[in-house]
Amino acid sequence: MPLFAILTLFPEALEPYTRESILGVAQTKGQAEILLVDLRDFTRDRHRTVDDRPFGGGPGMLLRPEPIVEAVEWLEAKYGRFRKFAACPSGRVFRQQVADEIAREQRVLILCGRYEGFDDRVRQLCGFEDLSLGDFVLSGGELPALTIVEACVRLLPGVLGNEESAAADSFRKDGLLDHPHYTRPRTYRGLEVPEVLVSGDHAAVERWREETARKRTRVRRPDLLKNTNNPENASASEADDAPDRAN
Ligand SMILES: C[S@@+](CC[C@H](N)C(=O)[O-])C[C@H]1O[C@@H](n2cnc3c(N)ncnc32)[C@H](O)[C@@H]1O
Repeated sequence: MPLFAILTLFPEALEPYTRESILGVAQTKGQAEILLVDLRDFTRDRHRTVDDRPFGGGPGMLLRPEPIVEAVEWLEAKYGRFRKFAACPSGRVFRQQVADEIAREQRVLILCGRYEGFDDRVRQLCGFEDLSLGDFVLSGGELPALTIVEACVRLLPGVLGNEESAAADSFRKDGLLDHPHYTRPRTYRGLEVPEVLVSGDHAAVERWREETARKRTRVRRPDLLKNTNNPENASASEADDAPDRAN
């Protein structure tokens, strides 16, 4: 069973989320294990100190290297080698393809930084790969870690039922965005559900979904068309560029 270990100063903040919904069910069914490791358990002083001031001065504090390195060593001695990531705004940007790649690993470890981050030597000592959620700065790596784990766990075999299949999601089918979705009521505040979706013509519904997914991708994320080898690349230049707020 794939094991995801999260090194954090706030295991109690993450714990409720990992017990709910997809992550909770996947663990109950034995499809994945999520281990929350408290960095303070690897301190040696009475105050369980994990941080210190940066050499060279400047604002803020940094996570000291010892608790991180010792937590990693403890985990690897107990479970074997992990693929190790550090949440970091200057890392490789986390995308669906990265989730696909990580979801194939048997043991994944994610380090959550805090304060100004962590002593840079842990990268070399532990072999962390930096992963960023995007070009913004959060106060800690806990939300990135949960995001990464959830994106990976939902890809594991059997975790999603047919109804929630990941295969039809954005970034999957030809790398396109998802098509628009509608449910009941058929008319709401004067807005109708597109006629084709209630026509009963399955082939027409499929065509509509493909067309709207392509159109939405062209308008909102033309960069995705360049990154994939899907047939839409050929027609991207003849795109209808007009932003379509309805779709
Ligand atoms: C306040 S941030 C440190 C920011 C760091 N001084 C910088 O400018 O790159 C504290 C921690 O939050 C996490 N973090 C913040 N933004 C992130 C992002 N966009 N992606 C991944 N982790 C992030 C990292 O673990 C980081 O060590």
